[in-house]
Amino acid sequence: MGYSGETLAVLLSAVHIAGAIILNVTDQASIKNTASTVAYGMMKYYTGNISNTPSTLGVLPSPYYWWEAGALWGLLLDYYHYTGDDTYNNVTTEALYSQVGPDWDYMVPSHQKDEGNDDQAFWGFATMSAAEKDYPQPTIGNYSWVQLTENLWNTQVRRWDTTSCNGGLKWQIFSFNNGYDYKNSVSNGAFFQLSARLARFTGNQTYIDWANKSYDWSIETGLITPDYHVYDGSDDLENCTIPNKILWSYTAGIYLYGSAVLYNYTNGSAIWQQRTEGFLNATANFFSGFDNATDIMYEAACETVYACNNDQFSFKGYLSRFMWATTQMASFTTNAVTTVLTASSLAAAQACSGGRDSVTCGTRWYVGGWDGTFGVGQQMSALETIQGLLVSKSVPPLHCDQVHLKPPETTTTAAVPSPTTTSPTKSSNIAGARATGEVDWTILFAIMGIAAGAELAS
Ligand SMILES: *[C@@H]1O[C@H](CO)[C@@H](O)[C@H](O)[C@H]1NC(C)=O
Ligand SMILES: *[C@@H]1O[C@H](CO)[C@@H](O)[C@H](O)[C@H]1NC(C)=O
Ligand SMILES: *[C@@H]1O[C@H](CO)[C@@H](O)[C@H](O)[C@H]1NC(C)=O
Ligand SMILES: *[C@@H]1O[C@H](CO)[C@@H](O)[C@H](O)[C@H]1NC(C)=O
Ligand SMILES: *[C@@H]1O[C@H](CO)[C@@H](O)[C@H](O)[C@H]1NC(C)=O
Ligand SMILES: *[C@@H]1O[C@H](CO)[C@@H](O)[C@H](O)[C@H]1NC(C)=O
Ligand SMILES: *[C@@H]1O[C@H](CO)[C@@H](O)[C@H](O)[C@H]1NC(C)=O
Ligand SMILES: *[C@@H]1O[C@H](CO)[C@@H](O)[C@H](O)[C@H]1NC(C)=O
Ligand SMILES: *[C@@H]1O[C@H](CO)[C@@H](O)[C@H](O)[C@H]1NC(C)=O
Ligand SMILES: *[C@@H]1O[C@H](CO)[C@@H](O)[C@H](O)[C@H]1NC(C)=O
Ligand SMILES: *[C@@H]1O[C@H](CO)[C@@H](O)[C@H](O)[C@H]1NC(C)=O
Repeated sequence: MGYSGETLAVLLSAVHIAGAIILNVTDQASIKNTASTVAYGMMKYYTGNISNTPSTLGVLPSPYYWWEAGALWGLLLDYYHYTGDDTYNNVTTEALYSQVGPDWDYMVPSHQKDEGNDDQAFWGFATMSAAEKDYPQPTIGNYSWVQLTENLWNTQVRRWDTTSCNGGLKWQIFSFNNGYDYKNSVSNGAFFQLSARLARFTGNQTYIDWANKSYDWSIETGLITPDYHVYDGSDDLENCTIPNKILWSYTAGIYLYGSAVLYNYTNGSAIWQQRTEGFLNATANFFSGFDNATDIMYEAACETVYACNNDQFSFKGYLSRFMWATTQMASFTTNAVTTVLTASSLAAAQACSGGRDSVTCGTRWYVGGWDGTFGVGQQMSALETIQGLLVSKSVPPLHCDQVHLKPPETTTTAAVPSPTTTSPTKSSNIAGARATGEVDWTILFAIMGIAAGAELAS
């Protein structure tokens, strides 16, 4: 957010009508229209579409870091899944291919200076999401989406570092990057969540073991407090004895969803129910910052003091993403999540009323309009929150026996979930959906099935 940008924005705001987006949260068409408008504004920042150069393909231009593009493609997979609008599917697929790296694990030599464990994990969230949604499998290389995620996960598990703090992942992968001596909650929480999702998707015991281990480590290190607040991280030169107590919305969301996935995977175990509920309770940190802003999400650590950076503008988006996703894994959370995210969606839509186009999104949703700021992160936070209003009509994350997996052609270090016939599973899934009255679910499912089927046939 540069000075000139702010000035321009403030000048323009004087001549633009607030509330150019009218969001009706009970009307699906209105939600989709709003999401489409915000997505269009977001994608204006992306210069590397399929006709572009290797250095711009798949990533966002400076000053945005590599990780945020991974986050953006993950967002767009949800966007398609929730709205059915495939406008951005080709660029998304192309982008996810572009950063696989030489070993098909999202270790990218040209991004060594901005690739930490957390950064890599945001790409993993995207590939995992592609796997769980039965998004058409890659037509390059020999790996399915889940195998790409497993490849990535296997690079991380090898970095579990017992030389200090009794374990944990360091923030950074390379010792020449700042933060190499820091073990942070976003890296460890992301590894926990990916382990949980891989466990649920594949049924492989290795992942449940690591989900447990990384969770237990987060507790033992004090990164998660007894009342489920998630601190930022700890210096490993101090053996992680002095946590940095700053609280960010996205780490709260990451642990929440990992717990919800394990609640689901364990068929509703008491322990994961308690943890899911605990993290959900603790999200209260990030809502209702002022008496006039009931249930409106805010980034408590930086918004009110005008100190958020480009990364942080997008954080609310991941809290929304993972709170909405949590409702599909643990239905007891649905009412609480829907209440706060509906209020936040309305506030976010009102905040998307600035700029030249009069639909540019701002940072602070509690001001009742546009606050004069803009950027990819602002668009992403609003979009994640608003598109999630459609979650109850969408297909929940699938298991490996419910998706089209292309059999691999080479032997690899990655696990190979056995490809199975998909039709019978799908039928039973659709029957289940009908039984719960989620009719639109099946329509979306059918669309997805056709897309994936076409992919297999090609
Ligand atoms: C919102 O949408 C619902 C469902 O389509 C409709 O019944 C209601 O009148 C709409 N509200 C407004 C204010 O337009
Ligand atoms: C690439 O982006 C430009 C600018 O947004 C757009 O005009 C063009 O259609 C895009 N091309 C593809 C192939 O998506
Ligand atoms: C996506 O790519 C396919 C194959 O190249 C093409 O047929 C289709 O029109 C593209 N879709 C969009 C929305 O650009
Ligand atoms: C995929 O496997 C085939 C057959 O083993 C091999 O020839 C090809 O090089 C592999 N492709 C990639 C991108 O690794
Ligand atoms: C570091 O902390 C772990 C527990 O987190 C403890 O087991 C270990 O002994 C400590 N190491 C040192 C050198 O204090
Ligand atoms: C995971 O941790 C929970 C709670 O600590 C425990 O009940 C469960 O047995 C553990 N599962 C595995 C596979 O280790
Ligand atoms: C959950 O329930 C399913 C279906 O009854 C069963 O196959 C599975 O083993 C159960 N999982 C656990 C972790 O208990
Ligand atoms: C797990 O998630 C599925 C899909 O949303 C849902 O049908 C099932 O009820 C959930 N299980 C539990 C224990 O909540
Ligand atoms: C979450 O909050 C509710 C309501 O205040 C409380 O009853 C419950 O015990 C809390 N759960 C956890 C795990 O702290
Ligand atoms: C709510 O109060 C805060 C703090 O005083 C203020 O910054 C904000 O603009 C107010 N919001 C509205 C909608 O008036
Ligand atoms: C389980 O996953 C681990 C880690 O990816 C892998 O090494 C192992 O081979 C897998 N096991 C099975 C049975 O697929």
